[in-house]
Amino acid sequence: MPVSQFTIPEKYKYLHGLGSNHETEAKSGALPIGQNSPQKAPFGLYAEKISGTAFTAPRAQNRQAWVYRVLPSCTHSKFIRVDSAPVSSHHDLCMIPNQLRWDPFDVTKGTSWVSALRQVAGAGDPALKTGVAYYVYAADESMPLRTAFYNADGEFLIVPQSGALDIETEMGHILVRPNEICVIPRGMRYRVNLYDNAESIRGYVLELFQGHFELPELGPIGSNCLANERDFQVPVASYRHESADISWTLQAKFGGRLFQAVQKHSPFDVVAWHGTYYPYKYDLGRFNTIGTISYDHPDPSIYTVLTAATNAHPGTAVADLVVFPPRWLVGENTFRPPSYHRNVMSEFMGLIQGDYFAKTAKKGGFQPAGASLHNTMSSHGPDAEAFEKASNEILAPVKVGRGSMAFMFESCYMIGVTPWALDHCQKVQDNYSEESWDELRVYFEDV
Ligand SMILES: [Fe+2]
Repeated sequence: MPVSQFTIPEKYKYLHGLGSNHETEAKSGALPIGQNSPQKAPFGLYAEKISGTAFTAPRAQNRQAWVYRVLPSCTHSKFIRVDSAPVSSHHDLCMIPNQLRWDPFDVTKGTSWVSALRQVAGAGDPALKTGVAYYVYAADESMPLRTAFYNADGEFLIVPQSGALDIETEMGHILVRPNEICVIPRGMRYRVNLYDNAESIRGYVLELFQGHFELPELGPIGSNCLANERDFQVPVASYRHESADISWTLQAKFGGRLFQAVQKHSPFDVVAWHGTYYPYKYDLGRFNTIGTISYDHPDPSIYTVLTAATNAHPGTAVADLVVFPPRWLVGENTFRPPSYHRNVMSEFMGLIQGDYFAKTAKKGGFQPAGASLHNTMSSHGPDAEAFEKASNEILAPVKVGRGSMAFMFESCYMIGVTPWALDHCQKVQDNYSEESWDELRVYFEDV
């Protein structure tokens, strides 16, 4: 199935291609031809540059965009701290080696994007542009009218689990539905509405403090497979031009804290833009899954959708988005679930829908909207029941994961857990480890 069958229809048009230099204009002639900053930009617009990388970053990694807008984005009041509680924290993270699993996270009544974000885990420091943070969100309201948000701390990779996000950005509109993912670059102004006044939205967010997501190298796989560039969708320019007596609230996440300013014009006033710095979305149903057609199975890196590389250690990611789509298992004489293992990388998993086949659906279990964390060198693998089944079943070709989509945020960092995730949310499963592995039997016969 190369495309997900969405119950919510698409409502926007998109450009296609990740990494491409795109250009789009909502009003014909709004983009200057052959230059970025003419003495007078077309239609009386202001030219503004958004730099997502250092000016001198190598050409292949350089991310920047020129936008042509009604007023420059600097026309706002002073920012004021609006809340003593941080949106995210890198100070209170608890490093523990235990395997952790959470029941589905609850929707918090009366919350919207930003106020619904709850940090589960993280590592590093946004001020040093090093590390990651993981969140869940569960909101039942659209953002307040005429409110926009940007995050100076990092790039957001959003994984909806239920409910569609109708996102208005400076670069245009994106509809993101469960089984799609979306990336909002650092600094991009946007607001999140619940699609068609849906009851709620729920999902996961990976915040990347350093670098950017990109497609993984394919090596001997060749020039296609996994996620292909052309399947990533980028918004087309769209703008609001409102009267001058309209007031907007602009929220900023800066160093983990929330700030707020007021401006007398819409942040979504970009009439045209071009460049390489833009939000995008991707339908996970388009992922071209590969695997063994003989025996054993390759490492799960074959399921990588997007990666953010460390510069210091080739092949080692600050963060990977890995997915486990429906797929055929045909390996002969093979234990087909993931192996028991310990990993120098930390593994945070979530489930969008269905069952994950390495875990049985016992009470509690690994459920949609729940999560698990197997940290650096913390042992894990199939539970006892899944082991028994996989060790004894007849190995005919079988399709696993029908109607399911599990994913993993994999990071080279040791991941700390927030007090909210450990205690306050009351979703940690107390007996995850015991229920999973205590019943594993000894079969070894020392004869
Ligand atoms: Fe693992």
